[in-house]
Amino acid sequence: MPREELAREGRTREELLHGAAEPAEQAEETSLRPRHLDEFVGQARLKEKLSVLLEAARGREQAAEHMLFAGPPGTGKTSLAGIIATEMGVRLQPTSGPALERAGDLAAILTNLDDGDVLFVDEIHRLPRPVEEVLYPAMEDFQLDIVIGKGPAARSIRLDLPRFSLVGATTRTGLITGPLRDRFGFVGRLDFYETSDLVTIVSRTAGILGVKLAEAGAQEVAMRSRGTPRIANRLLKQVRDFAQVRGDGSVDATVARQALALFEVDERGLDKVDRTVLEALCVTFAGRPVGLSTLAVAVTEEPDTVEEVYEPFLLKQGLMERTPRGRVATPAAYDHLGLSVPDATGTGPSLFGD
Ligand SMILES: Nc1ncnc2c1ncn2[C@@H]1O[C@H](COP(=O)(O)OP(=O)(O)OP(=O)(O)O)[C@@H](O)[C@H]1O
Ligand SMILES: [Mg+2]
Repeated sequence: MPREELAREGRTREELLHGAAEPAEQAEETSLRPRHLDEFVGQARLKEKLSVLLEAARGREQAAEHMLFAGPPGTGKTSLAGIIATEMGVRLQPTSGPALERAGDLAAILTNLDDGDVLFVDEIHRLPRPVEEVLYPAMEDFQLDIVIGKGPAARSIRLDLPRFSLVGATTRTGLITGPLRDRFGFVGRLDFYETSDLVTIVSRTAGILGVKLAEAGAQEVAMRSRGTPRIANRLLKQVRDFAQVRGDGSVDATVARQALALFEVDERGLDKVDRTVLEALCVTFAGRPVGLSTLAVAVTEEPDTVEEVYEPFLLKQGLMERTPRGRVATPAAYDHLGLSVPDATGTGPSLFGD
């Protein structure tokens, strides 16, 4: 189904990228979401800046600044939007770029806000341009210009809006237009998490889910979570299920290792698709540079999914590189797959095809 259709059905990016989650799974993710800033693990500098901004706004009894959060999927952007609303003691009104098809959709939401409310726009880089243009005066002057009627009889009226805070989230800062980015009072970047932070996160989740998790078990899960809290929580649940069925329910390092081997997550945290991407680069395309869409076809994923979900971690791990001629695997990737490194990687003719 094309993205526009999914968006019309009001589906989230989460579902676009990872397939529709079960309602129960979504509910569980919500229950695991940190609600207060001090429950939000890691990202210390970002948290410190946020706590100053929020405390200042509270002190002045004003709405918080408009904020934009950028970072890979599952690193806490939606959680932060919720935290801002909780810390400010206001309502959170969530929506997303693709769900706001027409300017009128945004106008309806804006006119229903109360003073101080947090309007959360997920995947803000997918806002249609005419909708984005309505957002500019709303963000800057808290005003909404509406055109009533058509042709010579059309009139424009200006409405005052409540003083809301816009919180935007994106996995792709590069796709945010300059005028939009400039209207945010604060841009926070979320990066992949350190293993020690992921240990804290899975231990916290184990506490909430009532799983007996040894420190070494937590370490094992954290190391294989692709630096991502959402994946850490997902792996913990798989490990928990394994421990319940094959063991006595408690998770130590051995149980965690056996469970993760069963679920095909390797020691570096790469899952099946990650390895398929590397295999395509190393074997199928024999080390020649490959364009994104060619690579996506080879691994039967959408180009967006490859670019937003798989690539950032493989790049960060130094397993692949993006060159002007296309994507190539690094010698570390050959090593990881147990293949011998060809004499000169990335030197063959480019396989662009896009
Ligand atoms: N800093 C954190 N501390 C504790 N848990 C976290 C943290 N960040 C994320 N999580 C956990 O990871 C899950 C996913 O986080 P969240 O939905 O906020 O990510 P996201 O960046 O909005 O992802 P997406 O880009 O896919 O929308 C949350 O339910 C929460 O349990
Ligand atoms: Mg989110």
